[in-house]
Amino acid sequence: MKRGCLWSLVAAVVLSVAGLAAHQPSGQAAGAQQPAPAQSPGNGWTLPPDAGDTKNPLAVDAKLVATGKALFKDKCQRCHGPGGLGDGPDADPDAQGDMDLTAPQRAARNSDGIVFYKLWNGRRKPKMPAFREELTKEQAWAVVAYVQTLRKK
Ligand code: HEC
Repeated sequence: MKRGCLWSLVAAVVLSVAGLAAHQPSGQAAGAQQPAPAQSPGNGWTLPPDAGDTKNPLAVDAKLVATGKALFKDKCQRCHGPGGLGDGPDADPDAQGDMDLTAPQRAARNSDGIVFYKLWNGRRKPKMPAFREELTKEQAWAVVAYVQTLRKK
């Protein structure tokens, strides 16, 4: 008697699993569950949704800013210009306004975390290279610290 019960239970489980599988065409289900790529709509930057919450993990002092300044000169100045106005020799002439790192009205959309992710990931058009291969995270945060000093208050 007990044995019989167990077998019907097993049969019920097998049947319901088979039923579920039949109702789920596997390819489609996997595709539907793919998370949307982390991207702010429209402007071409690839940013995690909470990028703005990320704070500079390093202590921002004169030494860090000086390190960032040297890195900026080496990596960013050719496009963004010596003062960050977007007037470097390799600047994209169509995007010069968007490359101005001093513009106070763009401060709100360029918190530390956002600037970090922008330079870490870059973007395709207008083109800004991704620096994740060229800089360590510490160096990237030093550049962020320096870039934030360029903005006019
Ligand atoms: C090849 C040229 C190039 C280089 C090199 C470059 N950038 Fe950019 N950068 C751009 C362009 C083009 C944009 C404008 C994109 C847009 O339309 O928002 C931009 C935009 C930015 C922005 C966003 C400005 C805003 O208001 O949204 C930040 C921040 C920035 N760059 C930081 C850096 C830093 C820091 C470096 C060096 C580590 C760097 N960039 C190197 C081309 C460059």
